[in-house]
Amino acid sequence: MAKNSFIIVMLACLGNWGFAQAQTPTVPSRGELLYSTHCIACHTTQLHWRDKQLAQNWVGLKAEVRRWQGTSGLGWSEEDVTDVAMYLNTSFYQFPVADTGRISMMK
Ligand code: HEC
Repeated sequence: MAKNSFIIVMLACLGNWGFAQAQTPTVPSRGELLYSTHCIACHTTQLHWRDKQLAQNWVGLKAEVRRWQGTSGLGWSEEDVTDVAMYLNTSFYQFPVADTGRISMMK
């Protein structure tokens, strides 16, 4: 399920917006757009459900997102980091979210 919608997102990134919009009922979240713009280039989707994950919980996932945006020199705000971590968590990791400080999922 998550895998299928991810493939649709990847198609969308290849410039096939019309097709993607016909297939997906929801508009991509901000975190999803940030991720597919800046991060997907050297990730495969498999990175996020491989056996030996670096991220072990929500805080660890956010730390990884923060680290990678720093590596890429993006200068993301805390909100950007949270949005992307939330997107990855919803799509792949499914960690219990303890400390968002905001309700991104309700957007
Ligand atoms: C230069 C290529 C590259 C870019 C750009 C990049 N990543 Fe990564 N990322 C990797 C590689 C390679 C790994 C695996 C590292 C390892 O196994 O030690 C990784 C691992 C991760 C992980 C941990 C996955 C796990 O094991 O649970 C997260 C989360 C992550 N990246 C998020 C991001 C985000 C968010 C961005 C965009 C800001 C980003 N990455 C951009 C190459 C990249």
